[in-house]
This record gives sequence, C-alpha cells and structure tokens, in this order.
Amino acid sequence: MARPLYVLNGPNLNRLGTREPEIYGSDTLADIEQACVRVAGARPVVFRQTNHEGELIDWIHEAGDRGCALVLNPAGFGHTSVALLDALRSISIPVIECHLSNPAAREEFRQVSFVSPAATGVVSGFGPASYEMAVEAALRLVGSAPSKS
Ligand code: DQA
Repeated sequence: MARPLYVLNGPNLNRLGTREPEIYGSDTLADIEQACVRVAGARPVVFRQTNHEGELIDWIHEAGDRGCALVLNPAGFGHTSVALLDALRSISIPVIECHLSNPAAREEFRQVSFVSPAATGVVSGFGPASYEMAVEAALRLVGSAPSKS
C-alpha cells in the first residue's frame, strides 16, 4: 500500500466558503479536499484541518512517520509558530507550503513565515488551485503521476 500524501490545514480554514470570500474565494475546505483527492489519483490522501497548534504538530509528526510527502497550509500559525518550524525540521519527507492568498503581497506580519525555511517549496496566491498545484508538486517529488482528469 502506497504511503499517503498528507494535506494538513491550520486554523480558521474550516470556515472557508464564508470567511473573507474576497480574499479566500467561495470554495469550502470540502471542495478543496475533493480537488486534492482527484489530482492525487491513485495516491491515498489524508486531509485534515485543526484550529489547535499542538494537534497540528502531532499530525506533522504522523505525516513524517507514515506519509510520503506533506502539503501544509499553516494559516495564521505560519506567521507565529517556532514550534511548527521545529516540528517540520524533525521530519524528512518533502514539505510543500501552500496558501490560497499570496501572503507576501499582504500585511507586513504575513510576510514572515516560520514554515518556509523548512519547506521544499511554496505555492501561494492561486486560490484553491494552490492546493492542486501543491499536490502535483508533491507527487512529482515522490515520483508518482498526478491524475490528468
Ligand atoms: C493563508 C494566509 C494566512 O496569512 C492566513 O492567516 C490564513 C490563510 C492562506 O491560505 O492564504 O489563515 O494561509
């Protein structure tokens, strides 16, 4: 059985669909999950969201132990959490940092990322398509073909 691709989501992303739609669009997290599963094709996907930093850290460890790669939207924690950076440095699978918006083009406090120094790469600014691109990138890195449909 292939090791799954982990797609982990941080705080407030459960509110996508109604949360600041002018910035984040109208897709829900369930819509995004469906798109990730479609792009991943035969590769199993573990897709989760939490509002709790410790839980996210536990899941990062789990991804490192059981997954082939990690797509991570750290949301607000990405701008604040040394612990998240330490967790990412404790695992050795590829990590793709993913954002719907482009934090580099927003407020100054969003221009700090505690995730980027431990990420293999970053995809941001393409709305829900950022996730599809991040899944594709992760699959390329682990040598499995994304679904073309
Ligand atoms: C976000 C960008 C972050 O700055 C913000 O705190 C989020 C969402 C994004 O996907 O664009 O919650 O990670």
